[in-house]
Amino acid sequence: MSDKFKKIYDESINNPEKFWTDASNDIFWFKKPTKILNKSSPPFYKWFEDGVTNTCYNALDTHIDQGNGKRTALIYDSPITGDKSNFTYEELKAKVSVFAGALQAQGVNKGDRVIIYMPMIPEAVIAMLACARIGAIHSVVFGGFASNELASRIDDSKAKVLVTASCGFEPGRTVEYKPLVDEAVKLAKHKIDKMILFQRKGHEVKLTPSKEVSWEEVVSNAKEIDCVEMNSNEFAYILYTSGTTGTPKGIVRDIGGHIVALKWTMKNIYNIDEGDIWWSASDIGWIVGHSYIVYAPLFKGCTTVLFEGKPVGTPDAGAFWKIISDYKVKSLFTAPTAFRAIKKEDPDGKFFSKYNLSKFESLFLAGERADPDTIKWAENLLKVPVIDHWWQTETSWAISSNCTGIEMMKTKYGSACKAVPGYDVKIIKSDQSLAKPNEMGDIVVKLPLPPGTFPTLWNADQRYKENYMSNYEGYYQTYDAGHIDEDGYIWIMSRTDDIINVAGHRLSTGAIEEVLSEHQSVAECAVLGVADKLKGQLPIGLIVLKAGVDKDNETISKECIKMVREKIGPVAAFKVAIVIKRLPKTRSGKILRGTIRKIADNIEYKIPPTIDDPAILSEIKDDLIKNNILKSG
Ligand code: COA
Ligand code: AMP
Repeated sequence: MSDKFKKIYDESINNPEKFWTDASNDIFWFKKPTKILNKSSPPFYKWFEDGVTNTCYNALDTHIDQGNGKRTALIYDSPITGDKSNFTYEELKAKVSVFAGALQAQGVNKGDRVIIYMPMIPEAVIAMLACARIGAIHSVVFGGFASNELASRIDDSKAKVLVTASCGFEPGRTVEYKPLVDEAVKLAKHKIDKMILFQRKGHEVKLTPSKEVSWEEVVSNAKEIDCVEMNSNEFAYILYTSGTTGTPKGIVRDIGGHIVALKWTMKNIYNIDEGDIWWSASDIGWIVGHSYIVYAPLFKGCTTVLFEGKPVGTPDAGAFWKIISDYKVKSLFTAPTAFRAIKKEDPDGKFFSKYNLSKFESLFLAGERADPDTIKWAENLLKVPVIDHWWQTETSWAISSNCTGIEMMKTKYGSACKAVPGYDVKIIKSDQSLAKPNEMGDIVVKLPLPPGTFPTLWNADQRYKENYMSNYEGYYQTYDAGHIDEDGYIWIMSRTDDIINVAGHRLSTGAIEEVLSEHQSVAECAVLGVADKLKGQLPIGLIVLKAGVDKDNETISKECIKMVREKIGPVAAFKVAIVIKRLPKTRSGKILRGTIRKIADNIEYKIPPTIDDPAILSEIKDDLIKNNILKSG
């Protein structure tokens, strides 16, 4: 193996300013930055402080300036509705410029917030880029979240306008957005000025004049708008993510660093060149969708695929192979759970054999741990490298990966490969000392973080500092635990907070517990993620009832499940709530969630010395067996 990767990695750590200055020369600036990194106020670092640019210009206009306006920017394919369309860079720019004009006509200006709650349709991408064009800050909310979650995001962001659609489509079910949005608007204390709604064909809904207006109408009266000049450290977007409490955290992204870093990743991590066809099978409501359906591939001048479907059931387990084959996709990025779903339906790859994947070169997986079985299955089927890489909403791009555009490294099954240039990853043990190779501990990244990562939380500098930057002085705490081996490979083993990963979707068990606690019969509860063969983890709730409750357990359990679906959303996939007599606790009253999880996952556990009453553990085990969470024996 050559030492090309090592050389580039070392440069990025030893002289980050030089490294990122070089990368910054690859993007369009109205004014090039001369101040590369401001370190005067840790942990708040500023990249490219005096640079002036625009996200949308880098996604669209710059490619047209370079004579590539006729290249396809976006391919939309919905196996659910049968709709398909293509947009060249010129066509996409025209649509974005008009919608930018429409937003402006509705009073949206630089710095204003716009909530986007939409299914996977081109208008969602157009809305995001239109915000970027006029310097508005978008906050995309995943369609699987319920009104309550949408309301909390409206309140926290104080959005001026909400952009939505009449409906989304899930296999076998139409998701009516309007009632969900109406409820959210009612629940939110902050009042939005205007709702813009895209009417989907055959699913038109009634709008209330003055407060609500259709996409078609705002666009028909709008004029095209040019890109607004933005300071590098102004914000491109807020993406809310589950936090260690039920209150979601507004991860913000600054403008200059985001463009520089994401464009750099396309070649260096993914080995994607301009003009290549790239597909990220995620949802624009998640960070993977923001970074790799929309921004990075467009910054790089690629063709990006927007897929409104699922790996299975739309219509079958060949859906992914069909897209790759139809559009000659070079690389796919998705979550391991998608491949587990395909493997479950079509273990022998019968559907796969129907398609021509001769242009397909690599598969990237992230969002949750990629189990070696799934990786090996995919490798055997696809005969291309299958790469597990690790990252977070907070960072917006991979912290560790096989950087295939620099140098292909060998796969170690179960590891997310090595730290990517820009990230100085360390393991810190509970005694606060740095771990030696193979010693477990908290995974941290030495500050400053590279460009494109979160410079703060929306309106919550203190929370940013306390939550992420204080437990280990000078380091960003990832809240993942694991180890680094003797070859520098990173092994992500678990989260150290209450976050669980359900089908690649990040959820807080604390948030689910908050909902369950609101049930009038529930005295206390614990929610934990138990291992699931398809979704990686699934939440289960253990609930203890108040004394004197005379409702039957089954009714209470059903009510709890309904409450979580209504308050958090179907995405929580919360289907199991078990009524138990009592929860195991330490003598100081802390619920022993870790021990319960080990029991549920059938992993060996030690009886904690601080436990109040060890007998409760066998009671819990019996309850889990009774409810088919655990097999007996
Ligand atoms: N709008 C409304 N509801 C949504 C939704 C959306 N955008 N996305 C999911 N949901 C709903 C689903 O319909 C389901 O509802 P149900 O309880 O009525 O069946 C629920 O939320 C749970 O969804 P999900 O966890 O996605 O489970 P699933 O059984 O529908 O599908 C997979 C499982 C594995 C096929 C699917 O999760 C998948 O394709 N995941 C991989 C790609 C991915 O999205 N990764 C995210 C980050 S990279
Ligand atoms: P999200 O912010 O939704 O992208 O979720 C980030 C979390 O997902 C990380 O902190 C990890 O816990 C988990 N995660 C993401 N990618 C991987 C991976 N490749 N291996 C293990 N865990 C991962």
